[in-house]
Amino acid sequence: MFTLPPLPYADTALAPVISANTLGIHYGKHHKTYVDNLNNLVKGTEFEGATLDKVIADTAGKADKAALFNNAAQIWNHTFYWSSLRGNGGGKPTGKLAAMIDSDLGGYDNFKKEFAATTVSQFGSGWGWLVVDGGKLKIVKTGNAEVPTTKGQKPLLTIDVWEHAYYLDYQNRRADYVNAVIDKLLNWEFAAANLG
Ligand SMILES: [Fe+2]
Repeated sequence: MFTLPPLPYADTALAPVISANTLGIHYGKHHKTYVDNLNNLVKGTEFEGATLDKVIADTAGKADKAALFNNAAQIWNHTFYWSSLRGNGGGKPTGKLAAMIDSDLGGYDNFKKEFAATTVSQFGSGWGWLVVDGGKLKIVKTGNAEVPTTKGQKPLLTIDVWEHAYYLDYQNRRADYVNAVIDKLLNWEFAAANLG
């Protein structure tokens, strides 16, 4: 059985950037539904008892396994998203990450601009990501449930831009949500741990 991982903080922890109402529904309804769906979908298949990573890797790009992939990847994406955020986050990273942002992305201000622009410009539902690709930091976006690991990229941070992530708080103002997350919620300790 796949289980809904606990939120790493209270549902009030990201307010006022992300309200407790948004967080409660996003985690308790949307994230949970992906877990429930996947548990139903794997019944009687080769994926019963498999790890989440295996389901994602073995179903990616396969049209006849799209429902399995979408629900498995959305479980992974959301768990990664919760850890990408923290109350009193944001600001500039330090150490190796700061050095790589300078060398690979033209400095923190440019990183911020590019991360926001790329994430906001995802057409429809999807995700913005800071990843390591070929040893260098890169900013990418993915549509729907797509996850950078299937392209050999190592995710460090993500921002959810499905409308359910921001619509109750920001309505159509996706850019305001993304910029507020970058400025106030990014969890650089999590990014540094992922970088290794
Ligand atoms: Fe979401």
